[in-house]
Amino acid sequence: VQLPDLVIVGAGLFGLTVAERCAEELGLRVLILERRHHLGGNAYSEKNPETGVEVHKYGAHLFHTSNERVWEYANRFTSFTDYRHKVFGKYQGQVYSLPLNLALINQFFGRSHTPDEARELISEQSSEFDTASATNLEEKAISLIGRPLYEAFIKGYTAKQWQTDPTELSADIITRLPVRYTFQNGWFSDTYEGLPTDGYTAWLSRMADHPNIEVRLETDFFAVADEFKGKVPIVYTGPVDEYFGNSEGRLSWRTVDLEESVVDTGDFQGTGVVNYNDQDVPFTRIIEFKHFHPEREKTHLPGKSVIVHEYSRFAEEGDEPYYPVNTADDRAKLLKYRDLAKAEPMVLFGGRLGTYKYLDMHMAIGSALSMYDNTLKPHFAEGAELK
Ligand code: FDA
Repeated sequence: VQLPDLVIVGAGLFGLTVAERCAEELGLRVLILERRHHLGGNAYSEKNPETGVEVHKYGAHLFHTSNERVWEYANRFTSFTDYRHKVFGKYQGQVYSLPLNLALINQFFGRSHTPDEARELISEQSSEFDTASATNLEEKAISLIGRPLYEAFIKGYTAKQWQTDPTELSADIITRLPVRYTFQNGWFSDTYEGLPTDGYTAWLSRMADHPNIEVRLETDFFAVADEFKGKVPIVYTGPVDEYFGNSEGRLSWRTVDLEESVVDTGDFQGTGVVNYNDQDVPFTRIIEFKHFHPEREKTHLPGKSVIVHEYSRFAEEGDEPYYPVNTADDRAKLLKYRDLAKAEPMVLFGGRLGTYKYLDMHMAIGSALSMYDNTLKPHFAEGAELK
């Protein structure tokens, strides 16, 4: 059997970007191995069959970037809607507009403040702790936004995300907690934002739709590794610890349980995302997917909606790894895995799992384009070493 020129492990945005560039620009024959039954990695979505609503199967995915090159590149495969993401947060029976902004401050403290008055109020309330000497997440958060806002909007949510009391969490988990002294409540502040017009799966499938690219689904790399290891260059985007048989110990991740249901109302919450800040509510947020595509209203079954409750917890073996926990112990292991990865002949490690980094979609694409420019193209086009 003829070997491909390049094997890519994982059909997520990182793997697809590398595959597309190598096939299109260098004419390489690329084989993508993907262990799931679909391509697209965690950005994959599908239509809920009963209601016709597009559901992001691994949690809500909103595209945003300020990187011109990534924006131009993504637009080769899909157009984007003009959706602008907003998030609301429930606390003690009230709904507030997030992130922390003037509307929230006014509503929460029960009276109107000018931007200067609000600044002064938050500065007084945050003087309880000094940011530089904060010893845990709670003290750090209070030093940034004051105790009342911390207790309502950070404490319960963070405790649920980490299943740990914020006084036991490291202060470095947060660097900033920006407060906007305006009524601007767009969630992202990037130049470009939107959702793929005909869905994520159409976008991601187009990236792989090239005569030189073969995608082999439901194929675990480790089951077929002997056919390729040491024979062709490999770009590996699976978990780095798994590649080395967890020899240095497992890296820790948080995961999210997603409970999807169809409800008997045309509109459950009036918006896409509502965070639940009260600690005694077990889930962290509810996503109502139809609100991501108001322009598709006519294609959605009337009188029904798809909602997803999200529950956050530490990942155990077999769970989907979503967010790196990144303890000091994890960082020490990662350094050892990086050395092993550097020494592994003909294999490059990339993507969020291969580098143990939370990457937004635009970052995964940007980092794949850099690997292409700096390593793959010089190797295949000019014979440079694969490093
Ligand atoms: P990704 O995980 O997508 O792909 C890796 C692929 O490798 C997977 O398909 C996996 O099955 C496969 N694989 C692993 N091991 C293998 C093996 N041994 N053999 C074969 N295949 C193997 N970003 C953003 O911009 N906006 C957002 O709103 C969100 N929201 C969001 C929510 C949640 C809950 C998460 C966890 C993440 C986001 N993201 C996001 C981030 C986004 O999901 C991320 O940028 C991309 O998934 C990164 O793409 P990768 O290709 O690196 O990994």
